[in-house]
Amino acid sequence: MANAQPKDSAMPYEGPKVYRRDELTYNRYLHVEELLSLQTLQSDPPHHDETLFIIIHQAYELWFKQILHEIESAMAAMNERKVLRAYRRLSRVGQIMKLLVSQIHILETMAPVDFLQFRDRLNPASGFQSIQFREVEFVAGLADANFLKVFQNWPEYQTALRRRLDGPNLRSCYYDLLRSQGYRIPPGMGTPGHQPSEAENLEVLDALRELYQHPNHKLPLYFLSETLIEFDEYLILWRHHHRLTVERVIGGRKGTGGSTGVRYLESTTSKRCFPLLWEARTYLTKEPQYEGEDL
Ligand code: HEM
Repeated sequence: MANAQPKDSAMPYEGPKVYRRDELTYNRYLHVEELLSLQTLQSDPPHHDETLFIIIHQAYELWFKQILHEIESAMAAMNERKVLRAYRRLSRVGQIMKLLVSQIHILETMAPVDFLQFRDRLNPASGFQSIQFREVEFVAGLADANFLKVFQNWPEYQTALRRRLDGPNLRSCYYDLLRSQGYRIPPGMGTPGHQPSEAENLEVLDALRELYQHPNHKLPLYFLSETLIEFDEYLILWRHHHRLTVERVIGGRKGTGGSTGVRYLESTTSKRCFPLLWEARTYLTKEPQYEGEDL
């Protein structure tokens, strides 16, 4: 089997290599120098904790970018009826979101009085103005035209949000996919501006019950549906964890973005991207048995 080894793995390590300046090295490929020059402190004299505050937000924004990238691809896969590909993309999103939930707690190592030393300098900057966070919400089916007002003086941001508002979203793509797989989903479900009637919701609940009662009949679709619930769950968890971190750091103060702070954040925790996927659970029954099904 020794012959099967790649040739260069048999060569002895000769110590660190010298790279030419014109080679594509790690630092050049990743623009490390530019990346590390992007933390501009507002505090003067510089406050020790402001570096953490900036880096953690920047890290979130990078992950939001990746999440949007994966969701775009998952929607395209659903449109092409490539269920496993959509599943894989959204599984990745789930793992990223899991990281984002735990990441917020790093900020709790910052003493409330330390944050107060530079908080006024940030005013009126707030996560409330994160364009990518809103895009994630919009593309996941939580489009709310009221948020466009925040970006009145940034037409390019408004265009990005309007594209999400009017375009396809995860919810509409998922319903289209279910329909293409033979489930009875009323037309227009999940599409922007469509307010489903009670009867339409019941029809979707019936379809979801069929899928969840017999996962083996459409296993990839079942697993895909679970990644959507997982996405929703992590987003809700993030909202709760962020809300708690905020209370721990600024208590009942108003937000720099102008909201009531914790009270506003509390009100967002009831948002659901896939309310019918949650509701469908209520109607599942013990029968028929999973006999012969290997879930
Ligand atoms: C000490 C740390 C933090 C504090 C005190 C804080 C405070 C707040 C407050 C009070 C709000 C409500 C809007 C406002 O009036 O400003 C808010 C919203 C928000 N924050 Fe934070 N935040 C912190 C960390 C973070 C981090 C690390 C992120 C990561 C991106 C983040 C993202 C957001 C987002 C996306 C919103 C909008 C939520 C929504 O509208 O549903 N925040 N934050």
